[in-house]
Amino acid sequence: MPEKEKNDARGPSRREFMRKSLRGALAAGFVFSAADSQTLSITRNTLPLKGLSPVLSGFKIAFASDFHHGPLVPIEDIRNAVKMINGLFADVILLGGDYISKDTSYYDAVFAQLSRLSAPYGVYSVPGNHEYWTGVSTYTEKLARTPIVDLTNTGFTVRGGLYIAGLDDEWTGAPGADAAVSAAPAGVPRIVFTHNPCLADSLPPEYASLILAGHTHGWQVYVPMVTRWAMPIDTMRKYRAGYYRTPAGLMYVARGVGLYYMPLRFCASPEIVLFTLVPSPLGEG
Ligand SMILES: [Fe+2]
Repeated sequence: MPEKEKNDARGPSRREFMRKSLRGALAAGFVFSAADSQTLSITRNTLPLKGLSPVLSGFKIAFASDFHHGPLVPIEDIRNAVKMINGLFADVILLGGDYISKDTSYYDAVFAQLSRLSAPYGVYSVPGNHEYWTGVSTYTEKLARTPIVDLTNTGFTVRGGLYIAGLDDEWTGAPGADAAVSAAPAGVPRIVFTHNPCLADSLPPEYASLILAGHTHGWQVYVPMVTRWAMPIDTMRKYRAGYYRTPAGLMYVARGVGLYYMPLRFCASPEIVLFTLVPSPLGEG
């Protein structure tokens, strides 16, 4: 019998075995990544801030965005997010908009859950583009019935020397960069949060020590190189997730809590972000 036929008679060749094993490993990796991509987690950052008073060392800021409660994001997911955020014992909680997707009847349930958020310096909100697309007055009216404070284009000073401000949505709202920081004491670090990270491109240089944004969902289904190329909206290509250095200041783009359009995330898992501030003469800001 020829050599090749002898091998075939003993079963699959070594090469075929390797091919099948590789295919199996890739399939298992894909399934694991897809499953892991749906799990909400907490991203913890320690952030050295130039000019931060030592009395505020250890001050904690929680940021969560893009809840999108609706048919694709059940209320259990929102309840779970609230539990996780409260478990961080943050000093202040900032919410970056997109509470619903299309149907404003979901506001009552999502705000009922978010009303349970608690922090010594309060819970604050700015609207996202979905608030505008569905009629921003509904968001404003519903939010006014909660303990959450709308911080659109305004801010406040934390005793000890930290200014926190919110900015309106870049796409659909009317961001007031000057108004938001008009009450900021000179030389005090500024934390600014908004929905759309593209707003950073039109803010004055060195506007904030830290800019927080959401909106991108980490591109929700992220396949390196492919997703950027296939992105249907040009302005979504620039920022995806994580830290960016911008002329206006250091920015962190959070991947958000919920999802939109399709019930799937891939390599862009949902996140809540926690920043612990520490003073540093060489730090950011
Ligand atoms: Fe969103």
